[in-house]
Amino acid sequence: MEERTLLIVKPDAVSQHHMGSIITMVEAEGFRILGMKMTQLDREQAGAFYAVHQGKPFYEELLDFMTSGPIVPMALSRKEGVSYLRQVVGATNSREAAEGTIRAQFGTDVQQNAVHASDSPENAAKEVAFFFAEDERFGG
Ligand code: CMP
Repeated sequence: MEERTLLIVKPDAVSQHHMGSIITMVEAEGFRILGMKMTQLDREQAGAFYAVHQGKPFYEELLDFMTSGPIVPMALSRKEGVSYLRQVVGATNSREAAEGTIRAQFGTDVQQNAVHASDSPENAAKEVAFFFAEDERFGG
């Protein structure tokens, strides 16, 4: 079944000029891009997006990082999109990500890991809606 998911190219990957390579990889893996924009989160928005991590030791640092520069969220669609994208993205810690994954190629460590990908269809629906109004999503 076609399934939507959200990918965010994070500030590290944008500033290191990797967004084009990442777009190329997701398109080559059969994802359709339903929506895409460049934006910068303020602290309140980043806190809302990552509310599930509130209280964790890395939370404040995560907000510092995610608000440090522009990001590129993308609403994607593909068969088994959520689980497939997580395979393409690789493990959270870039140093442990399998060869050929986005994080192995473009990430640095557990925080500066180049991209975010939704972890379940339920969260994907919420995360797509966080960044894209209905009239900002196409063909999906
Ligand atoms: P992401 O997939 O966007 O989900 C939460 C983010 O928090 C994660 O990628 C990392 O950027 C960051 N993160 C997760 N675990 C850690 C950790 N142990 N230390 C620092 N940052 C982390």
